[in-house]
Amino acid sequence: MEKVNLEWAQIGFQYRKTDFRYIAYYRDGAWDSGRLDDGNMITIHEGSQALHYGQACFEGLKAQTAKDGRVLLFRPDQNAKRLNNSARALLMAEVPEQMFLQGCHDVVKANLRWVPPYGSGASLYIRPYLIGHGENIGLKPAEQYIFSIFVCPVGPYFKDGFAPIHLTTTDYDRAAPKGTGAAKVGGNYAASFLPHELAVKAGFTDCIYLDPKTHTYIDEVGTSNFFGITKDNVFVTPKSPSILPSITKYSLMHIAREHFGMAVEERPVSIEQLDEFTEAGACGTAAVITPIGSITHNGHLHKFYNDGTSAGPVTTKLYETLTSIQRGEIDAPAGWLMDVAV
Ligand code: PLP
Ligand code: COI
Repeated sequence: MEKVNLEWAQIGFQYRKTDFRYIAYYRDGAWDSGRLDDGNMITIHEGSQALHYGQACFEGLKAQTAKDGRVLLFRPDQNAKRLNNSARALLMAEVPEQMFLQGCHDVVKANLRWVPPYGSGASLYIRPYLIGHGENIGLKPAEQYIFSIFVCPVGPYFKDGFAPIHLTTTDYDRAAPKGTGAAKVGGNYAASFLPHELAVKAGFTDCIYLDPKTHTYIDEVGTSNFFGITKDNVFVTPKSPSILPSITKYSLMHIAREHFGMAVEERPVSIEQLDEFTEAGACGTAAVITPIGSITHNGHLHKFYNDGTSAGPVTTKLYETLTSIQRGEIDAPAGWLMDVAV
C-alpha cells in the first residue's frame, strides 16, 4: 500500500480530506444500511435541530500502524457506547454498536493510504458524529438523523507534543452541574471557545475548568481529563458528574494499577491542594498524555515536576506504556484493540 506523500512529523492537528467517509441516514424510525462515499459535504434543512438547538454529538478515536503492519483501532467499542450516552442525553436516535464498529472499520480500511506509517508519531484520527436534522422550527427533537464518520491523519494536538503545557483556571464553566458535561455534545465545546481564547490571550496554553457548582474542585481541560501523581505514587483523577468520561483516562487507571502496581483514586481534587501532586497531566484521544507544567489559579502559579519544565518519570512511563499498547508493541488487555483486516 503506497502511502500519501506527507511530512508525517509535521502534519499537526488539522482537517485534511481523505478518500472516503462513511454515512448513514435515519428516517421513519430506522437506519438505512450505511455506505462509503467520497464526499465531504452534507446538505440539511435550514431549520435542522443540529443548527439551531445543538442536537449534535460526536466521538474521537485513533487508528495506528503496528510494527508488523496491522492497523489498530483503540477501544472503539467504548466510543460506540459513549456516543449512545450522548444520544440519550439529547433525545437522539441511537446508533447500533455494530454499525458504529463496522463504519469505523470500513472507513479506515478504505483510507489505508492515509494511515500514518509505523514510527511516524502520527495517527489516523477518526471522527464519528451524529446530528438531528429535517424541516423544523419548534423546540423538539428531530425525526431524522445523520451518522457519519470521517478520518484524517494527525500529529499531536498540543503543538509541542509530549512537552509541558501551562494552564489557568477560569471563571467560566463549560457545562452546568446537572447539564451535559458528561456527554460529548457540541454545545459543551461551543461554550469553551471564549474561555479558551481568553486563556490563550493571557499567555496560557489553555484553561482548566473547575466544578461548576462550587468552583473548588478540578473538573477537566476542554479537550482532556486531568490526572495527578502524588508524592506517594498514587494516580489521582477527578470524579465529577460534569466531566467527559475519558476512555484514555480509564485506560491509564488500568495501566497504573496493572503495569506499575500503583494505587488509583478517582475522587474530588481540590484546586487548593495541588501541592499533593509531584506530576500532573492531561489525557485524551487527541491530547494522548500531555504533561501539565503549571496551573495558575487566582494569581498563584503552581508548578509541577522540575519547575514545570519537563515531564516527570511516572507521566513518561504511563505515556510510553499507553502508546506502546496502542501500537501493538506490548500486550493489550482483551478487547482493547480492533484490527482492521488489511
Ligand atoms: N474531555 C473532553 C472535554 C474531551 O473532548 C475529550 C476528548 O475526547 C476527553 C476529555 C478525553 O476523552 P477520551 O480519552 O475518551 O478521548
Ligand atoms: C478528542 O480527543 O477526540 C477530542 O474530542 C478533542 C477534540 C475536541 C479535538
